[in-house]
Amino acid sequence: MKGILLAGGNGTRLAPLTAVTNKHLLPVYDRPMVLYPLQTLKDAGIDDILIITGSAHIGRFIEFLGDGSKFGVRLTYRVQQEASGISGALALCETFAQGEPVSVILGDNIFFSGFRGMPSKYGCTVYLTEADEATVRRSGCAEIEGDRVIGIEEKPQAPKSNLVATGFYHFSAEAFEIVKTLVPSGRGELEITDVIGAYVAKGDCGFVMVDGAWYDAGTFDSLLEASNYVKSEAKNA
Ligand code: DAU
Repeated sequence: MKGILLAGGNGTRLAPLTAVTNKHLLPVYDRPMVLYPLQTLKDAGIDDILIITGSAHIGRFIEFLGDGSKFGVRLTYRVQQEASGISGALALCETFAQGEPVSVILGDNIFFSGFRGMPSKYGCTVYLTEADEATVRRSGCAEIEGDRVIGIEEKPQAPKSNLVATGFYHFSAEAFEIVKTLVPSGRGELEITDVIGAYVAKGDCGFVMVDGAWYDAGTFDSLLEASNYVKSEAKNA
């Protein structure tokens, strides 16, 4: 399966750290953030990877990661001209996917272990973790029944569960048709939860539980927590 690593966006929640660089090039303890999601894709057996980022810093990504060979992967790059949202970035990947299913990871998502199970039999698989209410409120929140996701909501004020949809997904090629039908959300973005929601509406979304620590390193606190976690793990190794 091919992989897509989304590293666009403006990183406004991390300003001024992101004033002159891209969020995914910031350090998480001892290495740039982007290496963590890259490793997660590798661990999932994916080595043909498209990186999406904005034009301002794409040169830095190429300088650092090159063709990917020194990291054991094959990389291609595509520019997202405007930070139109995660699904806006996904829309740029259709030709890369060539009609095949894809794994998508958000560049600020850091997984510190594996997953309980393989991608589901459904067209879409989301990776879920239990979280406190504050985290759920700033994330996608999923409701499940049996082996399926039956509800998904972006940044709910009153979460219906304690399950966060992390930034790792498997999509059938249909996702590229779904993104063409989306309209921007209240925050002006094409949301990934709307793609997932289209699968949910057809009963075609399964889930896998994340095993172990997970961080969305997109805020000052979570960036620091992720760094501290890596440091403590390195000390215990
Ligand atoms: O971390 C998990 C959460 O990520 C999910 O639970 C949410 O459902 C999902 O919407 C997302 O929420 P965030 O508010 O954290 O998304 P953020 O705007 O931080 O974007 C996440 C990544 O997506 C970011 O690291 C880069 C990429 N991205 C984002 C935008 C807006 C792009 O590549 N292009 C974009 O235009």
